[in-house]
Amino acid sequence: MNRVHIKTYGCQMNERDSEAVAAMLRGKGYSIVDNEFDADVILLNTCSVRDQAEQKAIGKAGHVSARKKKNPNLIVGIMGCMAQNRGDELVDRLPDLDLIIGTQKFHRVPDHLDNMIATLQGQGPRPSTVIDLEEEAGSQNTIRSHVKDSRQVSAFVSIMQGCNMKCSYCIVPKTRGAERARPMESIVEEIEELAARGTKEVTLLGQIVNQYGIREFPFVDKKSPFVQLLEKVNAIEGIERIRFTSPHPVGFKEDLIDCYARLPKLCEYLHFPMQSGSDRILKAMRRPYTIERFRRIIDQLRAVRPDIYISTDVIVGFPGETDEDFELTRRAFEEIAFDMAFLFKYSVRPGTTAEPLGDPVSKEVKEERNQVLLDLLGQSSLSRNQSLVGHIEEVLIEGPAKRGEGMYMGRTRGHRKVVVPASERLVGELVPVRILEATTTTLSGELVLEGIETGLAG
Ligand code: SAH
Ligand code: SF4
Ligand code: F3S
Repeated sequence: MNRVHIKTYGCQMNERDSEAVAAMLRGKGYSIVDNEFDADVILLNTCSVRDQAEQKAIGKAGHVSARKKKNPNLIVGIMGCMAQNRGDELVDRLPDLDLIIGTQKFHRVPDHLDNMIATLQGQGPRPSTVIDLEEEAGSQNTIRSHVKDSRQVSAFVSIMQGCNMKCSYCIVPKTRGAERARPMESIVEEIEELAARGTKEVTLLGQIVNQYGIREFPFVDKKSPFVQLLEKVNAIEGIERIRFTSPHPVGFKEDLIDCYARLPKLCEYLHFPMQSGSDRILKAMRRPYTIERFRRIIDQLRAVRPDIYISTDVIVGFPGETDEDFELTRRAFEEIAFDMAFLFKYSVRPGTTAEPLGDPVSKEVKEERNQVLLDLLGQSSLSRNQSLVGHIEEVLIEGPAKRGEGMYMGRTRGHRKVVVPASERLVGELVPVRILEATTTTLSGELVLEGIETGLAG
Protein backbone atom coordinates (compact mmCIF):
# COMPACT_ATOMS: atom_id res chain seq x y z
CA MET A 1 0.00 0.00 0.00
CA ASN A 2 2.88 2.41 -0.29
CA ARG A 3 3.28 3.15 -3.97
CA VAL A 4 2.24 6.72 -4.80
CA HIS A 5 1.78 8.33 -8.19
CA ILE A 6 1.57 12.12 -8.37
CA LYS A 7 0.23 13.86 -11.48
CA THR A 8 0.82 17.58 -11.69
CA TYR A 9 -1.14 20.25 -13.58
CA GLY A 10 -0.47 23.99 -13.66
CA CYS A 11 2.58 26.13 -13.05
CA GLN A 12 6.14 25.57 -11.83
CA MET A 13 5.02 26.30 -8.30
CA ASN A 14 2.77 23.26 -8.49
CA GLU A 15 5.63 21.18 -9.88
CA ARG A 16 7.73 22.27 -6.97
CA ASP A 17 4.96 21.47 -4.45
CA SER A 18 4.53 17.99 -5.97
CA GLU A 19 8.22 17.37 -5.74
CA ALA A 20 8.26 18.43 -2.09
CA VAL A 21 5.32 16.10 -1.36
CA ALA A 22 7.18 13.27 -3.13
CA ALA A 23 10.29 13.95 -1.03
CA MET A 24 8.27 14.02 2.20
CA LEU A 25 6.52 10.77 1.28
CA ARG A 26 9.80 9.06 0.46
CA GLY A 27 11.13 10.17 3.80
CA LYS A 28 8.28 8.23 5.39
CA GLY A 29 8.90 5.03 3.45
CA TYR A 30 6.56 5.50 0.50
CA SER A 31 7.83 4.92 -3.01
CA ILE A 32 6.96 7.24 -5.88
CA VAL A 33 5.99 5.48 -9.12
CA ASP A 34 5.85 6.92 -12.63
CA ASN A 35 3.08 4.65 -13.85
CA GLU A 36 -0.33 5.35 -12.33
CA PHE A 37 -1.38 1.73 -12.95
CA ASP A 38 1.33 0.57 -10.54
CA ALA A 39 0.10 2.85 -7.76
CA ASP A 40 -1.87 2.26 -4.56
CA VAL A 41 -2.34 5.99 -4.14
CA ILE A 42 -3.00 8.51 -6.92
CA LEU A 43 -2.65 12.20 -6.10
CA LEU A 44 -3.59 14.91 -8.58
CA ASN A 45 -2.00 18.30 -7.94
CA THR A 46 -4.38 20.64 -9.69
CA CYS A 47 -4.63 24.11 -11.23
CA SER A 48 -7.58 26.52 -11.38
CA VAL A 49 -6.16 29.31 -13.48
CA ARG A 50 -8.40 28.61 -16.48
CA ASP A 51 -11.59 26.61 -16.80
CA GLN A 52 -9.89 24.11 -19.10
CA ALA A 53 -7.29 23.30 -16.43
CA GLU A 54 -10.04 22.49 -13.93
CA GLN A 55 -12.06 20.42 -16.39
CA LYS A 56 -9.00 18.34 -17.24
CA ALA A 57 -8.31 17.52 -13.59
CA ILE A 58 -11.96 16.81 -12.77
CA GLY A 59 -12.18 14.45 -15.77
CA LYS A 60 -9.02 12.68 -14.69
CA ALA A 61 -10.20 12.39 -11.07
CA GLY A 62 -13.47 10.84 -12.27
CA HIS A 63 -11.62 8.31 -14.39
CA VAL A 64 -9.21 7.37 -11.67
CA SER A 65 -11.91 7.09 -9.01
CA ALA A 66 -13.84 4.71 -11.26
CA ARG A 67 -10.95 2.26 -10.89
CA LYS A 68 -11.92 1.75 -7.28
CA LYS A 69 -14.62 -0.63 -8.48
CA LYS A 70 -11.89 -3.09 -9.47
CA ASN A 71 -9.39 -2.04 -6.83
CA PRO A 72 -11.29 -1.08 -3.67
CA ASN A 73 -8.14 -0.19 -1.75
CA LEU A 74 -7.03 2.43 -4.26
CA ILE A 75 -6.68 5.87 -2.61
CA VAL A 76 -7.37 8.96 -4.71
CA GLY A 77 -6.65 12.52 -3.66
CA ILE A 78 -6.84 16.01 -5.11
CA MET A 79 -4.34 18.59 -3.92
CA GLY A 80 -3.46 22.16 -4.76
CA CYS A 81 -5.28 25.07 -6.31
CA MET A 82 -8.50 23.39 -7.47
CA ALA A 83 -8.84 21.60 -4.13
CA GLN A 84 -8.55 24.99 -2.45
CA ASN A 85 -10.85 26.71 -4.91
CA ARG A 86 -13.65 24.16 -5.13
CA GLY A 87 -13.20 22.20 -1.89
CA ASP A 88 -16.53 20.87 -0.69
CA GLU A 89 -18.13 21.14 -4.10
CA LEU A 90 -15.65 18.50 -5.31
CA VAL A 91 -16.97 15.96 -2.83
CA ASP A 92 -20.49 16.46 -4.14
CA ARG A 93 -19.24 15.87 -7.66
CA LEU A 94 -16.77 13.12 -6.88
CA PRO A 95 -17.99 11.41 -3.68
CA ASP A 96 -15.37 8.69 -4.05
CA LEU A 97 -12.44 11.03 -3.41
CA ASP A 98 -10.38 10.16 -0.34
CA LEU A 99 -8.37 13.35 0.12
CA ILE A 100 -8.87 17.01 -0.69
CA ILE A 101 -5.76 18.92 0.35
CA GLY A 102 -5.39 22.69 0.03
CA THR A 103 -2.39 24.75 -0.98
CA GLN A 104 -1.26 25.42 2.60
CA LYS A 105 -1.47 21.76 3.61
CA PHE A 106 0.87 19.87 1.30
CA HIS A 107 3.06 18.92 4.26
CA ARG A 108 0.10 17.14 5.85
CA VAL A 109 -0.23 14.64 2.99
CA PRO A 110 2.00 11.94 4.57
CA ASP A 111 0.03 11.95 7.85
CA HIS A 112 -3.31 11.86 6.09
CA LEU A 113 -2.14 8.93 3.98
CA ASP A 114 -0.71 7.06 6.98
CA ASN A 115 -4.04 7.35 8.77
CA MET A 116 -6.07 6.31 5.80
CA ILE A 117 -3.90 3.30 5.04
CA ALA A 118 -3.92 2.22 8.70
CA THR A 119 -7.72 2.27 8.69
CA LEU A 120 -7.99 0.37 5.40
CA GLN A 121 -5.45 -2.23 6.57
CA GLY A 122 -7.29 -2.61 9.87
CA GLN A 123 -10.25 -3.64 7.75
CA GLY A 124 -12.16 -0.74 9.25
CA PRO A 125 -14.89 0.94 7.25
CA ARG A 126 -13.58 3.18 4.51
CA PRO A 127 -12.98 6.60 6.09
CA SER A 128 -15.00 9.46 4.67
CA THR A 129 -13.25 12.07 2.51
CA VAL A 130 -10.55 13.97 4.40
CA ILE A 131 -10.86 17.67 3.61
CA ASP A 132 -7.97 19.84 4.78
CA LEU A 133 -8.17 23.35 3.39
CA GLU A 134 -7.53 25.69 6.32
CA GLU A 135 -5.04 28.51 6.18
CA GLU A 136 -1.90 27.73 8.12
CA ALA A 137 0.53 30.30 9.44
CA GLY A 138 4.05 29.52 8.28
CA SER A 139 2.99 27.11 5.53
CA GLN A 140 5.39 28.87 3.13
CA ASN A 141 8.21 27.32 5.15
CA THR A 142 7.03 23.77 4.57
CA ILE A 143 7.98 23.48 0.90
CA ARG A 144 11.65 22.75 1.47
CA SER A 145 12.41 19.10 0.87
CA HIS A 146 13.91 17.94 -2.40
CA VAL A 147 14.01 14.42 -3.76
CA LYS A 148 17.47 13.30 -2.73
CA ASP A 149 18.22 10.10 -4.59
CA SER A 150 18.76 11.74 -7.94
CA ARG A 151 20.86 14.76 -8.72
CA GLN A 152 18.84 17.72 -9.87
CA VAL A 153 20.87 19.64 -12.40
CA SER A 154 18.33 22.42 -12.33
CA ALA A 155 16.02 22.94 -9.35
CA PHE A 156 13.01 25.05 -8.47
CA VAL A 157 13.01 26.83 -5.12
CA SER A 158 9.80 28.44 -3.79
CA ILE A 159 10.76 31.65 -2.01
CA MET A 160 7.26 32.79 -1.13
CA GLN A 161 3.62 31.80 -1.31
CA GLY A 162 0.46 33.65 -2.23
CA CYS A 163 -0.26 36.93 -3.96
CA ASN A 164 -1.62 40.27 -2.73
CA MET A 165 -2.30 41.72 -6.17
CA LYS A 166 -5.86 41.93 -7.36
CA CYS A 167 -5.67 41.31 -11.09
CA SER A 168 -9.33 41.21 -12.00
CA TYR A 169 -9.17 37.98 -14.05
CA CYS A 170 -7.06 35.94 -11.66
CA ILE A 171 -8.01 33.19 -9.23
CA VAL A 172 -4.52 32.75 -7.74
CA PRO A 173 -4.98 35.09 -4.73
CA LYS A 174 -7.96 32.93 -3.78
CA THR A 175 -6.21 29.61 -4.28
CA ARG A 176 -2.85 30.59 -2.81
CA GLY A 177 -3.81 33.11 -0.14
CA ALA A 178 -1.95 36.21 1.01
CA GLU A 179 1.72 36.84 0.20
CA ARG A 180 4.06 35.21 2.72
CA ALA A 181 7.84 35.19 2.34
CA ARG A 182 10.25 32.56 3.57
CA PRO A 183 13.21 33.80 5.60
CA MET A 184 16.26 34.51 3.45
CA GLU A 185 18.58 32.28 5.49
CA SER A 186 16.32 29.29 5.01
CA ILE A 187 16.23 29.79 1.24
CA VAL A 188 20.00 30.20 1.11
CA GLU A 189 20.48 27.05 3.19
CA GLU A 190 18.19 25.09 0.88
CA ILE A 191 20.14 26.23 -2.18
CA GLU A 192 23.48 25.47 -0.49
CA GLU A 193 22.25 21.92 0.12
CA LEU A 194 21.20 21.63 -3.52
CA ALA A 195 24.58 22.96 -4.67
CA ALA A 196 26.37 20.44 -2.45
CA ARG A 197 24.51 17.67 -4.29
CA GLY A 198 25.45 19.01 -7.71
CA THR A 199 22.67 21.41 -8.66
CA LYS A 200 24.02 24.07 -11.02
CA GLU A 201 20.92 26.12 -11.76
CA VAL A 202 18.11 27.40 -9.55
CA THR A 203 14.84 29.06 -10.48
CA LEU A 204 13.36 31.11 -7.65
CA LEU A 205 9.59 30.83 -7.64
CA GLY A 206 6.80 33.13 -6.51
CA GLN A 207 3.66 34.69 -8.01
CA ILE A 208 5.29 38.09 -7.78
CA VAL A 209 8.92 37.39 -6.94
CA ASN A 210 10.23 40.92 -7.02
CA GLN A 211 7.86 41.74 -4.14
CA TYR A 212 9.55 39.03 -2.08
CA GLY A 213 9.68 39.99 1.59
CA ILE A 214 8.60 43.55 0.91
CA ARG A 215 6.51 43.62 4.09
CA GLU A 216 8.71 41.38 6.22
CA PHE A 217 12.26 42.54 5.55
CA PRO A 218 13.89 45.98 5.28
CA PHE A 219 15.54 47.56 2.26
CA VAL A 220 19.33 47.68 2.70
CA ASP A 221 21.35 50.31 0.77
CA LYS A 222 18.21 50.98 -1.28
CA LYS A 223 18.13 47.32 -2.30
CA SER A 224 14.87 45.40 -2.04
CA PRO A 225 14.76 42.11 -0.13
CA PHE A 226 14.54 40.30 -3.49
CA VAL A 227 17.75 41.93 -4.73
CA GLN A 228 19.44 41.09 -1.42
CA LEU A 229 18.36 37.49 -1.90
CA LEU A 230 19.71 37.42 -5.47
CA GLU A 231 23.05 38.66 -4.17
CA LYS A 232 23.17 35.92 -1.57
CA VAL A 233 22.31 33.22 -4.09
CA ASN A 234 24.89 34.62 -6.48
CA ALA A 235 27.50 34.06 -3.78
CA ILE A 236 26.71 30.36 -3.31
CA GLU A 237 29.55 28.20 -4.52
CA GLY A 238 28.53 25.60 -7.08
CA ILE A 239 25.46 27.46 -8.30
CA GLU A 240 26.25 28.73 -11.80
CA ARG A 241 22.92 30.03 -13.02
CA ILE A 242 20.05 31.91 -11.40
CA ARG A 243 16.60 32.41 -12.88
CA PHE A 244 13.31 33.53 -11.34
CA THR A 245 9.64 33.63 -12.22
CA SER A 246 7.38 35.63 -12.27
CA PRO A 247 8.24 39.25 -11.67
CA HIS A 248 5.69 42.07 -11.98
CA PRO A 249 6.32 45.49 -13.54
CA VAL A 250 5.26 46.98 -10.21
CA GLY A 251 8.38 47.30 -8.11
CA PHE A 252 10.72 46.42 -11.02
CA LYS A 253 13.15 49.21 -10.08
CA GLU A 254 16.76 50.18 -10.82
CA ASP A 255 18.13 47.98 -8.04
CA LEU A 256 16.80 44.90 -9.86
CA ILE A 257 17.73 46.10 -13.36
CA ASP A 258 21.24 46.75 -12.08
CA CYS A 259 21.53 43.08 -11.02
CA TYR A 260 21.74 42.19 -14.72
CA ALA A 261 24.92 44.25 -14.93
CA ARG A 262 26.64 43.04 -11.80
CA LEU A 263 25.49 39.52 -10.84
CA PRO A 264 27.28 37.18 -13.24
CA LYS A 265 25.17 34.14 -12.38
CA LEU A 266 21.88 35.88 -13.10
CA CYS A 267 20.97 34.55 -16.55
CA GLU A 268 20.20 37.00 -19.34
CA TYR A 269 16.66 35.68 -19.54
CA LEU A 270 13.53 37.20 -18.06
CA HIS A 271 9.94 36.03 -18.03
CA PHE A 272 8.04 39.29 -17.81
CA PRO A 273 4.22 39.11 -18.11
CA MET A 274 2.72 41.94 -20.17
CA GLN A 275 -0.91 40.64 -20.33
CA SER A 276 -2.04 43.36 -22.78
CA GLY A 277 -0.65 46.22 -24.83
CA SER A 278 -3.68 48.44 -24.27
CA ASP A 279 -3.69 50.76 -21.24
CA ARG A 280 -7.47 50.65 -21.16
CA ILE A 281 -7.44 46.85 -20.86
CA LEU A 282 -4.53 46.85 -18.40
CA LYS A 283 -6.62 49.14 -16.23
CA ALA A 284 -9.65 46.86 -16.50
CA MET A 285 -7.36 43.96 -15.63
CA ARG A 286 -6.19 45.96 -12.60
CA ARG A 287 -2.61 45.70 -13.71
CA PRO A 288 -1.22 48.94 -12.28
CA TYR A 289 1.18 49.97 -15.09
CA THR A 290 0.99 51.42 -18.54
CA ILE A 291 2.40 49.75 -21.62
CA GLU A 292 4.87 52.63 -21.82
CA ARG A 293 6.19 51.83 -18.33
CA PHE A 294 6.41 48.12 -19.27
CA ARG A 295 8.40 48.95 -22.38
CA ARG A 296 10.66 51.34 -20.52
CA ILE A 297 11.70 48.55 -18.15
CA ILE A 298 12.55 46.35 -21.13
CA ASP A 299 14.53 49.18 -22.73
CA GLN A 300 16.48 49.64 -19.50
CA LEU A 301 17.17 45.91 -19.29
CA ARG A 302 18.34 45.83 -22.89
CA ALA A 303 20.58 48.82 -22.26
CA VAL A 304 22.25 46.88 -19.43
CA ARG A 305 22.21 43.46 -21.16
CA PRO A 306 21.75 43.89 -24.92
CA ASP A 307 21.59 40.12 -25.39
CA ILE A 308 18.82 39.52 -22.82
CA TYR A 309 16.04 37.09 -23.81
CA ILE A 310 12.54 38.15 -22.84
CA SER A 311 9.46 36.01 -22.56
CA THR A 312 5.94 37.04 -21.58
CA ASP A 313 2.32 36.12 -20.84
CA VAL A 314 -0.56 37.65 -22.82
CA ILE A 315 -4.30 37.16 -22.36
CA VAL A 316 -6.40 37.70 -25.48
CA GLY A 317 -10.14 38.33 -25.38
CA PHE A 318 -10.42 39.98 -21.97
CA PRO A 319 -14.00 41.37 -21.68
CA GLY A 320 -14.27 44.59 -23.68
CA GLU A 321 -11.05 44.02 -25.70
CA THR A 322 -11.83 45.71 -29.02
CA ASP A 323 -10.00 45.38 -32.34
CA GLU A 324 -8.20 48.63 -31.47
CA ASP A 325 -7.12 47.26 -28.07
CA PHE A 326 -5.87 44.10 -29.68
CA GLU A 327 -4.02 46.11 -32.33
CA LEU A 328 -2.14 47.85 -29.49
CA THR A 329 -1.23 44.44 -28.04
CA ARG A 330 -0.18 43.15 -31.45
CA ARG A 331 1.98 46.19 -32.07
CA ALA A 332 3.67 46.06 -28.65
CA PHE A 333 4.20 42.31 -29.06
CA GLU A 334 5.80 42.80 -32.47
CA GLU A 335 7.94 45.76 -31.50
CA ILE A 336 9.26 44.18 -28.31
CA ALA A 337 9.91 40.96 -30.31
CA PHE A 338 9.58 38.52 -27.44
CA ASP A 339 11.79 35.47 -27.63
CA MET A 340 9.15 33.30 -26.00
CA ALA A 341 5.55 33.77 -24.84
CA PHE A 342 2.63 31.99 -23.24
CA LEU A 343 -0.57 33.08 -24.93
CA PHE A 344 -3.87 32.56 -23.15
CA LYS A 345 -7.48 32.95 -24.19
CA TYR A 346 -9.45 34.68 -21.47
CA SER A 347 -11.39 32.33 -19.22
CA VAL A 348 -13.94 33.60 -16.68
CA ARG A 349 -13.01 32.64 -13.12
CA PRO A 350 -15.91 32.55 -10.68
CA GLY A 351 -15.34 34.83 -7.73
CA THR A 352 -12.91 37.20 -9.49
CA THR A 353 -13.76 40.86 -9.93
CA ALA A 354 -13.92 40.42 -13.72
CA GLU A 355 -16.57 37.71 -13.42
CA PRO A 356 -19.51 40.14 -13.66
CA LEU A 357 -18.14 41.36 -17.02
CA GLY A 358 -18.99 37.97 -18.50
CA ASP A 359 -17.19 36.63 -21.54
CA PRO A 360 -18.34 38.82 -24.43
CA VAL A 361 -15.43 38.22 -26.84
CA SER A 362 -16.34 35.24 -28.99
CA LYS A 363 -14.31 32.06 -29.10
CA GLU A 364 -13.53 32.66 -32.78
CA VAL A 365 -12.17 36.15 -32.17
CA LYS A 366 -10.02 34.89 -29.29
CA GLU A 367 -8.72 32.11 -31.53
CA GLU A 368 -7.91 34.59 -34.30
CA ARG A 369 -6.09 36.99 -31.97
CA ASN A 370 -4.20 34.11 -30.40
CA GLN A 371 -3.09 32.97 -33.86
CA VAL A 372 -1.88 36.44 -34.86
CA LEU A 373 0.40 36.54 -31.80
CA LEU A 374 1.52 32.94 -32.31
CA ASP A 375 2.64 33.76 -35.85
CA LEU A 376 4.60 36.79 -34.65
CA LEU A 377 6.17 34.70 -31.91
CA GLY A 378 7.16 32.02 -34.41
CA GLN A 379 9.00 34.64 -36.48
CA SER A 380 10.79 36.36 -33.62
CA SER A 381 11.76 33.11 -31.93
CA LEU A 382 13.10 31.65 -35.18
CA SER A 383 15.12 34.70 -36.07
CA ARG A 384 16.63 34.84 -32.57
CA ASN A 385 17.56 31.17 -32.83
CA GLN A 386 18.97 31.60 -36.33
CA SER A 387 21.15 34.45 -35.13
CA LEU A 388 22.94 31.92 -32.91
CA VAL A 389 23.99 29.60 -35.75
CA GLY A 390 27.79 29.53 -35.96
CA HIS A 391 28.17 30.92 -32.43
CA ILE A 392 29.40 29.12 -29.34
CA GLU A 393 26.91 28.99 -26.47
CA GLU A 394 27.37 27.76 -22.92
CA VAL A 395 24.96 24.84 -22.45
CA LEU A 396 23.97 23.14 -19.20
CA ILE A 397 23.37 19.50 -20.11
CA GLU A 398 20.22 18.28 -18.32
CA GLY A 399 19.84 14.72 -19.58
CA PRO A 400 19.19 12.46 -22.57
CA ALA A 401 17.13 14.05 -25.35
CA LYS A 402 13.78 12.47 -26.11
CA ARG A 403 14.91 11.45 -29.57
CA GLY A 404 18.13 10.08 -30.95
CA GLU A 405 20.63 7.70 -29.42
CA GLY A 406 23.55 9.50 -27.80
CA MET A 407 21.74 12.84 -28.02
CA TYR A 408 21.47 15.03 -24.95
CA MET A 409 19.32 18.03 -24.10
CA GLY A 410 20.45 21.18 -22.42
CA ARG A 411 19.74 24.89 -22.23
CA THR A 412 21.68 28.05 -22.96
CA ARG A 413 21.77 30.88 -20.43
CA GLY A 414 19.00 32.44 -22.52
CA HIS A 415 16.87 29.32 -21.84
CA ARG A 416 17.02 28.10 -25.45
CA LYS A 417 16.75 24.37 -25.80
CA VAL A 418 19.80 22.72 -27.39
CA VAL A 419 20.22 19.13 -28.59
CA VAL A 420 23.78 17.89 -28.84
CA PRO A 421 25.61 14.55 -29.12
CA ALA A 422 27.16 14.03 -25.69
CA SER A 423 27.58 11.43 -22.98
CA GLU A 424 26.10 10.64 -19.58
CA ARG A 425 29.28 11.98 -18.00
CA LEU A 426 28.41 15.48 -19.14
CA VAL A 427 24.98 15.60 -17.50
CA GLY A 428 25.06 18.50 -15.06
CA GLU A 429 28.06 20.11 -16.76
CA LEU A 430 28.30 23.48 -18.45
CA VAL A 431 29.82 22.87 -21.85
CA PRO A 432 30.58 25.07 -24.86
CA VAL A 433 28.50 24.09 -27.87
CA ARG A 434 28.81 25.36 -31.43
CA ILE A 435 25.30 25.94 -32.75
CA LEU A 436 24.84 24.37 -36.18
CA GLU A 437 21.10 24.47 -36.82
CA ALA A 438 18.05 26.30 -35.56
CA THR A 439 14.29 25.80 -35.63
CA THR A 440 11.68 27.93 -33.85
CA THR A 441 11.93 25.88 -30.69
CA THR A 442 15.24 24.02 -30.75
CA LEU A 443 18.92 24.51 -31.51
CA SER A 444 21.27 21.71 -32.39
CA GLY A 445 25.02 21.76 -32.19
CA GLU A 446 28.31 20.07 -31.37
CA LEU A 447 30.62 20.14 -28.39
CA VAL A 448 33.69 22.24 -28.96
CA LEU A 449 36.18 21.34 -26.25
CA GLU A 450 38.84 18.85 -27.27
CA GLY A 451 39.11 17.19 -23.86
CA ILE A 452 35.40 16.79 -23.63
CA GLU A 453 35.10 15.42 -27.13
CA THR A 454 37.48 12.61 -26.26
CA GLY A 455 35.30 11.94 -23.21
CA LEU A 456 32.52 10.86 -25.55
CA ALA A 457 33.93 7.38 -25.83
CA GLY A 458 33.66 6.82 -22.07
N1 SAH B 1 1.77 35.67 -11.01
C1 SAH B 1 1.99 35.65 -12.40
C2 SAH B 1 0.95 34.89 -13.19
C3 SAH B 1 0.40 33.63 -12.69
S1 SAH B 1 -0.89 32.93 -13.64
C4 SAH B 1 1.98 37.09 -12.91
O1 SAH B 1 1.32 37.94 -12.39
O2 SAH B 1 2.65 37.29 -13.87
C5 SAH B 1 -0.08 32.67 -15.20
C6 SAH B 1 -0.72 33.37 -16.35
O3 SAH B 1 -2.01 32.85 -16.60
C7 SAH B 1 -0.97 34.86 -16.15
O4 SAH B 1 0.17 35.62 -16.38
C8 SAH B 1 -2.06 35.14 -17.16
O5 SAH B 1 -1.51 35.50 -18.41
C9 SAH B 1 -2.77 33.80 -17.29
N2 SAH B 1 -4.11 33.86 -16.69
C10 SAH B 1 -4.42 34.07 -15.40
N3 SAH B 1 -5.76 34.09 -15.23
C11 SAH B 1 -6.31 33.88 -16.44
C12 SAH B 1 -7.65 33.80 -16.93
N4 SAH B 1 -8.68 33.96 -16.12
N5 SAH B 1 -7.83 33.55 -18.25
C13 SAH B 1 -6.78 33.41 -19.08
N6 SAH B 1 -5.51 33.50 -18.68
C14 SAH B 1 -5.26 33.72 -17.38
FE1 SF4 C 1 -2.69 36.57 -10.46
FE2 SF4 C 1 -2.01 39.08 -10.75
FE3 SF4 C 1 -1.22 37.75 -8.59
FE4 SF4 C 1 -0.15 37.17 -10.94
S1 SF4 C 1 0.03 39.14 -9.85
S2 SF4 C 1 -0.91 35.73 -9.45
S3 SF4 C 1 -1.85 37.47 -12.34
S4 SF4 C 1 -3.32 38.27 -9.12
FE1 F3S D 1 -2.61 27.16 -11.50
FE2 F3S D 1 -2.38 27.48 -8.95
FE3 F3S D 1 -0.28 27.76 -10.47
S1 F3S D 1 -4.07 28.13 -10.17
S2 F3S D 1 -1.14 28.52 -12.36
S3 F3S D 1 -1.41 25.93 -10.19
S4 F3S D 1 -0.73 28.89 -8.63
